[in-house]
Amino acid sequence: MELKERLAVELGAARARTLDLLAPLADAELTRQHSTLMSPLVWDLAHVGNYEDLWLVRATGGDAVAAGIDHLYDAFRNPRSTRPSLPLLDPAGARSYLAKVRGTALEALERARLEDGQPLLDGGFVYKMVLQHEHQHDETMLATLQLMDAPGYRPDDLGGHPRAGVEQRPASTCHSAWPEVLVEAGPFVMGTDSDDWAYDNERPAHVVDLPPFLIDRLPTTNRRWLEFVEAGGYHQARWWSDEGWAWRLEAGLEHPGGWRRHGTASWSRDRFGHHDDLDLDEAVQHVCWYEADAYARWRGQRLPTEAEWEKAASWHAPSSTKRRYPWGNGDPGDALANLGQRRFGPARVASLPDGASPWGCEQMVGDVWEWTSSDFRPYPGFRAFPYREYSEVFWGPDHKVLRGGSWATHPTAVRTTFRNWDYPIRRQIFAGVRCARDVPGRF
Ligand code: AVJ
Ligand code: FE
Repeated sequence: MELKERLAVELGAARARTLDLLAPLADAELTRQHSTLMSPLVWDLAHVGNYEDLWLVRATGGDAVAAGIDHLYDAFRNPRSTRPSLPLLDPAGARSYLAKVRGTALEALERARLEDGQPLLDGGFVYKMVLQHEHQHDETMLATLQLMDAPGYRPDDLGGHPRAGVEQRPASTCHSAWPEVLVEAGPFVMGTDSDDWAYDNERPAHVVDLPPFLIDRLPTTNRRWLEFVEAGGYHQARWWSDEGWAWRLEAGLEHPGGWRRHGTASWSRDRFGHHDDLDLDEAVQHVCWYEADAYARWRGQRLPTEAEWEKAASWHAPSSTKRRYPWGNGDPGDALANLGQRRFGPARVASLPDGASPWGCEQMVGDVWEWTSSDFRPYPGFRAFPYREYSEVFWGPDHKVLRGGSWATHPTAVRTTFRNWDYPIRRQIFAGVRCARDVPGRF
């Protein structure tokens, strides 16, 4: 398919998903703020249109569809907690704004020159950026929907029933010896210079030389996490960082988000208003960085650094080449990764062996975002493009990096170089953990 046609098709599919996700909700549910952590859903909706108005209409030379509302949908001027008090477009107004912007953007795309040496347009860069932005907000809206515990919200209506889509193979893991792989010492290439879907923060490519390390072959399961809960890990300060322990007390954390205990030994978890038995072999999700850090320490392990994660996911040492995905450069398919909201939750671990990385790590892309130990910082030689507020304003110790995408991430919005970031207290996102450790005996 020609590039322009592919972009138009992808934009259409993203929009269909956005509208479908919100279709089951009444206007009052769209305009209400369900949690001060999140925006009212109608804010996300119009913000997606406003971003497109800025980048696919104005930045490509057109006249604004609605410049007068920019200040309402600027994420920096308006922290999430303040968004419900703004004079926002109502749901019908937001939908018609989105439609107008899209019509104008598609006309501009037809006229656009995508090979004229303009960094914003070359290879369709700005279209790919806007497309990923809409997908990112779809994932954010799903996190809001999960927090809402919306009665009557039915993932199965969206093609996402927990049992549909990706088939669940039984987990084939021996639980006494949790498998780790050895990633040998040596240099690898981190980041990219050539991927035209990549954001500024994934650039430039640079060589990083790492000592050897061990990393879990699989993401941590609910079963493994339950061992931590039952061993009293949430009540023993010694596993937690000082800040993590303070947060654990303040927030009253006792188990991952959405879990409920029934009696002494039985657990359920909330999923979009449905309460199912906890599937012990699925990857654990809704844990914050502080919990992940404590869990890893209790296991005698640690979180991987961001560089370790990327090397384990992408580096084929025998040929000294880097892969866009753990399995290679081919697009994600159902047998390779659980992405794109095809099932409304993580898959069981060890159920997608064909998606393994060169080192044998499975499910690195899809299922759950994986917390790393790293602060969000620029790579050497970083240049903000096309705007400072995508990455640069977040650099520093306040944000921790997550890698790999979740079941809710669209396939075009993740790759082995993709960097996500959030505060260490956040757990409404679809985040879990894969542990690592130093090779024993090295000093
Ligand atoms: C990359 C997910 C951290 O949601 O803050 C959306 C993506 N940037 N709109 C975020 C983003 C601007 C960003 N994350
Ligand atoms: Fe945004």
